Amino acid sequence: MGKVKQAFIKELRDGETSLNKILSPIVGTSSVSVGRRYLALIDDKEVGFLYIDYLETEKYRNSICLYKIFVLPEYRNIGIGKILLQRTEELCKLSGREKILLNVHPLDGVTQKEKLVKWYLENGYKYAEEDDILMEKII
Ligand SMILES: CC(C)(COP(=O)(O)OP(=O)(O)OC[C@H]1O[C@@H](n2cnc3c(N)ncnc32)[C@H](O)[C@@H]1OP(=O)(O)O)[C@@H](O)C(=O)NCCC(=O)NCCS
Repeated sequence: MGKVKQAFIKELRDGETSLNKILSPIVGTSSVSVGRRYLALIDDKEVGFLYIDYLETEKYRNSICLYKIFVLPEYRNIGIGKILLQRTEELCKLSGREKILLNVHPLDGVTQKEKLVKWYLENGYKYAEEDDILMEKII
């Protein structure tokens, strides 16, 4: 598949999960409203997942946290991850916040931390000043 410019991003409601057997354990089913969960769809097929949260503590009230970003292995390297990062930025702006924070943590056995760091750097993230575990992007 060639590079993808657009994907349909669907917000999941509490209790909803993915129908895909690889995505569903990563998506989980939240019965309590913690954060916002989104599926990326291409031609009605669920191919990716984004999980963010609007932080409420004093220190992070200007930030949103990117907890999970995942693209099905056979749909990687065609731009879907980037689309999910762009959506995160839109959500950050819409909420009036100015920073995206994340902890670089591979979610499967094939994704290497070093490659993830490189990917985030290419997408405009840098190590957070006060914490070398976190990466951040000012919007
Ligand atoms: C991290 C992840 C979400 C990236 O998703 P993705 O859809 O592959 O991301 P993109 O396609 O936007 O970009 C990935 C790479 O493909 C490249 N790329 C994008 N479109 C391309 C194209 N048409 N042809 C070739 N390469 C392309 C990008 O430049 C990038 O290259 P890099 O590895 O040199 O940085 C995906 O690898 C993943 O789901 N990993 C497992 C989950 C995980 O560990 N998540 C991280 C939690 S912190």
